[in-house]
Amino acid sequence: MKIMIVGGGGREHAIAWAVAKSPRCEKLYAAPGNAGIAALAECVDISVMDADSLVAFAKEKDVDFVIVAPDDPLAAGVADAFLDAGIKTFGPRKNAAIIEASKAFSKDLMKKYDIPSAAYETFEDADAALAYLETQEAPYVLKADGLALGKGVLICQTLEEAKAGIKEIMIDKKFGDAGNKVVIEEFMTGREVSVLCYSDGKTVLPMTSAQDHKRAGDGDTGLNTGGMGTFSPSPFYTDEIAKFCEENVYQRTIDAMAKEGREFKGVLFCGLMLTPKGPKVLEFNARFGDPEAQVVIPRMKNDIVDVMEACADGTLDKITLEFEDNAAVCVMLASDGYPVSYEKGYEIKGLDKFDDMDGYYVFHSGTKFADGPDGKKIVTNGGRVLGVTALGSTLLEARANAYKATELIDFDNKYMRHDIGKAIDDEK
Ligand code: AMP
Ligand code: GLY
Repeated sequence: MKIMIVGGGGREHAIAWAVAKSPRCEKLYAAPGNAGIAALAECVDISVMDADSLVAFAKEKDVDFVIVAPDDPLAAGVADAFLDAGIKTFGPRKNAAIIEASKAFSKDLMKKYDIPSAAYETFEDADAALAYLETQEAPYVLKADGLALGKGVLICQTLEEAKAGIKEIMIDKKFGDAGNKVVIEEFMTGREVSVLCYSDGKTVLPMTSAQDHKRAGDGDTGLNTGGMGTFSPSPFYTDEIAKFCEENVYQRTIDAMAKEGREFKGVLFCGLMLTPKGPKVLEFNARFGDPEAQVVIPRMKNDIVDVMEACADGTLDKITLEFEDNAAVCVMLASDGYPVSYEKGYEIKGLDKFDDMDGYYVFHSGTKFADGPDGKKIVTNGGRVLGVTALGSTLLEARANAYKATELIDFDNKYMRHDIGKAIDDEK
């Protein structure tokens, strides 16, 4: 099969790694890919948002199967463009990707179908939102309706802060049109767990659990980022919780989308909070998480092409998902200053050390080839630069392995958190 991946981050590198090792993959393309993906796929410099050029390229190369991985193109209907051109595609159509692209939509869906989540109100008018805040108690949770690179959620400890937040989102438009509507939500407490599920629109198959660390600094301090590291599985996601979520969240959501005429095919990412009143949904995403993919995919036993094709074909009931009985930890190596401002273009050294190391992976997020004399020099090209993932028989072992492996990589401005997976210690 000729396969094409749309995207160019660490998540897409992890997907490319899994696709490239499938015996079913005879040729792999990536648009735009990155310097790491280039070792596995032919990268073509087309923007993930340029549906016309992407479809034209896929047709020219006789691509049999396309994987659309990032949120923005899914929300914009890039999967629809491939499907409408008759090309088999993994990833939801625009009318289903809305479950991520509009928080107001997903909250309304959960309310209508009794899917456990925080109480909320939605506002299109800043004055009404401000008046509502007066009636609520701190802490206040404000969510810009649309896509905001994982940064559109504000947790405010005081009324003043919350009012300033509404102003930032709805009046100053800090997140652009994503802030035309705002959801104000009940504050919840508990452990966070992410469960990514494959679905073909009817059947839903949950993958192994994972947890992300969203804040930039150690001890969950600093600004929200796209994700500074992950671990899998989560020791807090017990069999009992899994059973509850399978019935009350995953299957119910897929069925709800089908009833709404928004068949969901692809990966439904369920961000959960394990509250004292049971698991509740924090958010849905319409795709693999980044860096959740970097810990979940290396643990998957199945051929990813078989599973993704079954999602597209509606035959997921024929698949049994299997994961290794081990653990994985991914530590993001970032550019110091991320997520605000940072320099890039620094040479990365030590990448080749991972070539022959079983159970260790370095997935590229923001890297590119520099115009060095041999054209092979790889430099930093983003806030999140590399995801270093290691397996281990336990989470503690995987964490020790991952941190040891971060020492193999060197670049100026290298920054990372030192407590990825530390929550696991609480369980000992
Ligand atoms: P989201 O993008 O909706 O997952 O929100 C980003 C982060 O904000 C989550 O990972 C939580 O840590 C936090 N958060 C979101 N909603 C709530 C809530 N209702 N109560 C407490 N924390 C929340
Ligand atoms: N790591 C969180 C996300 O991909 O949205």
